[in-house]
Amino acid sequence: MDKLIITGGNPLKGEIAVAGAKNVALKILVASLLTDEELVIHNVPQISDVQFMLEVLTELGVQSTVEGNTIRVVNKHKTDAKVPLEVGSRLRTSSMVMGPLLARYGRATTPNPGGCRLGARPIDRHIDALKDMGADITYNSNDGYFYGHTEGLHGATIHFEKNTHTGTETLILAAVLAKGQTILENAAEEVEIDDLIACLNKMGANIKRTDPRTIVIDGVSALHGAEYSIIPDRNEEITFAIAAAMTKGDVTVKNSQREHLAAFLEAFKNAGGTYEPVDGTTTRYCCGGSIHPTDIVTSQYPGFMTDWQAPWAVFMTQATGVSTIHETVFESRFSYVSELKKMGAHIEFFDPDVPHPDTFYNFNWADRVEGSHQAIRITGPTALHNAVLEITDLRAVATLVLAALVAPGESIIHGVGQVDRGYERIEERLRTLGATIERVKEE
Ligand code: EPU
Repeated sequence: MDKLIITGGNPLKGEIAVAGAKNVALKILVASLLTDEELVIHNVPQISDVQFMLEVLTELGVQSTVEGNTIRVVNKHKTDAKVPLEVGSRLRTSSMVMGPLLARYGRATTPNPGGCRLGARPIDRHIDALKDMGADITYNSNDGYFYGHTEGLHGATIHFEKNTHTGTETLILAAVLAKGQTILENAAEEVEIDDLIACLNKMGANIKRTDPRTIVIDGVSALHGAEYSIIPDRNEEITFAIAAAMTKGDVTVKNSQREHLAAFLEAFKNAGGTYEPVDGTTTRYCCGGSIHPTDIVTSQYPGFMTDWQAPWAVFMTQATGVSTIHETVFESRFSYVSELKKMGAHIEFFDPDVPHPDTFYNFNWADRVEGSHQAIRITGPTALHNAVLEITDLRAVATLVLAALVAPGESIIHGVGQVDRGYERIEERLRTLGATIERVKEE
């Protein structure tokens, strides 16, 4: 795995284009299993998670051609194919193939999924809902596989007790070819889901979001090929916005999606950041004055996303006063704190008083690791200093890149494979903004 060497302290300035959304690309690739015709997907980010998903699909018989940011995929299904554990376990979304495989072939053998280590991250909500549609699914803890079988998926009314982003998508991918109507109640609202729906409808599906948290899917007998361009990545945009503000720079972001970033933009403004719409898809981010502390509670869309809290924490190390971040979606998403402390950040853990944690938090409260905490208190401003850093979660490693960009001196970040999972050619692109950042092979 490579490492990044960053010499911080330069204000980032210039123009940068946001790449396509990882969390759409992966799901649309899974949708290729729903047809035998070619699916042409544009604006796919060149990241390792996409590569990993193509490896999963190759195991299932999908043929792919990658030309820059366009991927062509055709499903030549292999009967009895089974994704090897080591291939499936790299990626949480590998489990999503279960829906299309059950819908089309009546059988699915899928490995227990991997992905970023953000706590237990079970897929019980996906499995229970697929069972409601007529699937018989068992997990074999000896070999780490889910074994699914069905005589035919049928429509069902599914009420998710708690929000699940990929659970909602897994059910959509299963229901498009099921017999009859499926209604997803308390379905997740993330905009990436609507982009998947738009692509599936272009392939001949019949899916409607009838109100913000209800999705109605009328099963069709077959889907056909299509050509689709995916939306830009919201998480990249907020990373560039924070980089601009923290380094006292001035960055103009192309392919901007202000309409999907309302909660972020409000917090950014409250913190003293400035954003200026240049046109419908271009936004300028900067911050000339002092940075103010904020209190953030993460939540599902349209709230402040859990993916943004790690970069936000490093931003708040530069604020004058005490900021708090309360994580409510995942039970373990503060792995970056120990690394930021190495750079001089003043961060303490605490547990907010929550009367009914089992219903308040999005994760299963019973899965919580004893002694872990759900909130942090950051006292700033801190002149961060350089350090040697290592981390294992995608958004957290992007956070350390931000911290190193603001810290004078040379920082080294190990475990860069994590950032490659979700950010396309990050060092090359940051260099165009004036960052001093280099990738070096680990000895
Ligand atoms: N959960 C369960 N059981 C389930 C499903 C979820 O307990 O069956 C728990 C999870 O463990 C978590 C909470 O419910 O604590 C919410 O999980 P959700 O299913 O909504 O999240 P996800 O689908 O696993 C996706 C994104 C994440 C993003 C979250 C929130 C993908 C591939 N991943 O995760 O993105 O943070 O939604 O929007 O779409 C990332 O891109 O780095 C990333 C982690």
